[in-house]
Amino acid sequence: MRAAALAALAVVGCQLDNNGGSATAVSPNQLAAKLQALSQRMHARYLGAHRLIAAVGRSDLDSARLEAHAMSVLEEPDVLPEWRPYFVAVSQAALDIELAPDVGVAGRLVATLGARCLACHTAARAKPKLAPLPHGPTRMLEHQQAAIAMWDGLVISSDEHWLAGADILATAPLAMVARAATPEWPDDVDDVARLRMYAQRAKHVTAPAERTELFGTIMTTCSHCHTALRDR
Ligand code: HEC
Ligand code: HEC
Repeated sequence: MRAAALAALAVVGCQLDNNGGSATAVSPNQLAAKLQALSQRMHARYLGAHRLIAAVGRSDLDSARLEAHAMSVLEEPDVLPEWRPYFVAVSQAALDIELAPDVGVAGRLVATLGARCLACHTAARAKPKLAPLPHGPTRMLEHQQAAIAMWDGLVISSDEHWLAGADILATAPLAMVARAATPEWPDDVDDVARLRMYAQRAKHVTAPAERTELFGTIMTTCSHCHTALRDR
């Protein structure tokens, strides 16, 4: 079923061969391999985006640029021309992140990237299945977990993921390590309060453009705190 949805993007049935330019049939095996490769690159972008969110969240611009670069160079040779612009738009967003002058700009662009993925999922009427949301405590930091769940919710237009992320964000405590690192610094508290406010707002925001905007703001707040801690 999943392969069928992806197959709608791919050049199927016949292709030009390398030398003669005449149409040759693509064998079922070749087609299956192409679809598998397409699915793997889709996953590679998805997992890369999660690492990108973590890197931008912790204001690690160097790692963010490496992730963005890896995403920007992924190519989709086998998709139909009508779908190519969507992948080009995704690669361009990744390239913009790679070239971002600072982590604040990168944070906004991570939201733009998600909106570009969403644009194709909407156009293709794709509703990708994602792993179920974790219940209860995970080993991942709550702030990071919240941001990833919200981004996923944006990308596959899932209220469930978006709201679950907002819920985590609304209640995420400043981790013990963060408390230890920032005992009496008022700005930190402001950032946490701000994130909680955005999380409350997120619960009432449904339009993709507004979610994109809000998510970008959230990312810049994450990186603001980390940058401030580092530059102290
Ligand atoms: C050109 C269109 C297009 C673009 C661009 C696109 N996707 Fe997809 N994506 C699809 C289609 C179609 C499917 C198959 C959906 C299904 O299985 O119902 C899919 C599936 C997925 C899946 C599930 C894959 C699997 O095999 O389990 C994930 C995760 C995903 N996309 C994430 C992303 C992310 C993240 C981006 C942006 C970085 C992105 N997609 C960009 C069209 C696109
Ligand atoms: C009030 C300040 C503050 C805010 C806001 C904040 N963090 Fe953090 N974060 C910290 C501190 C302090 C640490 C632990 C010390 C460190 O490694 O920087 C940390 C650790 C992390 C780490 C692990 C860093 C590593 O090197 O392993 C990630 C990832 C992270 N935060 C992501 C986020 C994301 C995403 C958000 C926004 C949704 C966010 N943080 C919001 C202060 C903050």
